[in-house]
Amino acid sequence: MTVERARITIFDTTLRDGEQSPGCSMNQEEKLRLAHQLDRLGVDVIEAGFPIASDGDFESVKAIAAAIRRPIIAGLARACRPDIERAWEALRHAARPRIHVFLATSDIHLQYKLRITRDQCLAQARDAVRFAKSLCDDVEFSPEDATRTDPDFLCSVLDAVVEAGATTLNIPDTVGYTIPSEYADLITTIRQRVKGIENVTISAHCHNDLGMAVANALAGVGAGVRQVECTINGIGERAGNASLEEIVMAMRVRPDRYAYETGVIGAQIFAASQMLSEITGVPVQPNKAITGRNAFAHEAGIHQDGVLKNPLTYEIMTPQSVGVPDSKLVLGKHSGRHALGMRCEQLGYTFDRRALDDIYRRFVRLADKIKHVEDHHLLELIRDTHKPSGSATPLIEPIATAQAAVVSAPAANVPAASAEPPEPPRPFPTAPQTNAFGVPLPAHSDPHHEQTQQEDYLWGV
Ligand code: KIV
Ligand code: ZN
Repeated sequence: MTVERARITIFDTTLRDGEQSPGCSMNQEEKLRLAHQLDRLGVDVIEAGFPIASDGDFESVKAIAAAIRRPIIAGLARACRPDIERAWEALRHAARPRIHVFLATSDIHLQYKLRITRDQCLAQARDAVRFAKSLCDDVEFSPEDATRTDPDFLCSVLDAVVEAGATTLNIPDTVGYTIPSEYADLITTIRQRVKGIENVTISAHCHNDLGMAVANALAGVGAGVRQVECTINGIGERAGNASLEEIVMAMRVRPDRYAYETGVIGAQIFAASQMLSEITGVPVQPNKAITGRNAFAHEAGIHQDGVLKNPLTYEIMTPQSVGVPDSKLVLGKHSGRHALGMRCEQLGYTFDRRALDDIYRRFVRLADKIKHVEDHHLLELIRDTHKPSGSATPLIEPIATAQAAVVSAPAANVPAASAEPPEPPRPFPTAPQTNAFGVPLPAHSDPHHEQTQQEDYLWGV
């Protein structure tokens, strides 16, 4: 007997809410690269940015909307005309655009942040959604700080925005305050009381301040949520958002309790996690579920013995199911283009033949000098091929330079052509930056990443 599974829409906000986490800002080229990986990952919606926030964000959303045609591309807007117009300007050429309008509804936000009354708030939300709807069919509304909003008032606002044309109602736990049973009750109340709710999708957007973002989102799904907003590696404001990989794999590993399906391609999860970490320079916490370097590591003798006899003794999912590379595949001078291309894909990079040839030539020269080419060597080679045009460093730099960069400290990996002044003395000790497998990450010379050292230290303690 086949069990009917409800389809959950995966709304990825790594490029918007995720990008708001300290040290995680990305430039347009980086956002576009990650957006392509999110597309390969199979997410349904990519929230590409907040177009009014900056010209850079506007251009990024526009470029993603033009290049990525399968998923819905969403842009965030406050509940006011200039924001909505700017969002629409960035999104209008998308194959499937969505305007995401938000307005805080809790008394604490109305009184201290917005300085408006509840009546003004309701009218503003309704008018904003009506205006967004006049531009775009697909409109999402988020009552910011919903979980600390008076439920009666929350339902009135939701009534008004559904009437004005909202197609998705997102219920944010903006400050990560709620707990699973309470969040599920709130979703149930909304389903019972909001007029026309049967025609709209209810969405969960949970922050992780109490470490319950994933549990809250899953509780919401159990109560009728059909879209989950989440981020790769759980990045996001403060303690982050619900992690995409944890939500998807909870449903996959426990279909007996979470009988839902998503369109996510499990084998692309690790590549997405690695790419994000490589782009931002923010390493994944080693014990992070699913994507941390220890997620599939077995240290204790009893565990190792059990796993060797049968992996099911201590593994509830296979590393392959989330795209963790087969560490037994050693890359050396006898490896071919195919193995190299596969490893690049596992690290989050897909190349056309010519680009792969470039990397392959340099790979062979390096493999001739060192025994095993490890992931960090490969990332070094790959990064050189991604250098912006106009860089003074040749595409294929002499291998001696590449090798020197590999064996020196991560800070020495700053591209030779960087015009940045030398780094000022650091005020506190820095932990080495590594990816999920202990592979050194680049020290960014980009001013966007200037907080990285501080965060790495904080993450390391
Ligand atoms: O956390 C939040 O409330 C948000 C909204 C803009 C959806 O990110
Ligand atoms: Zn948020």
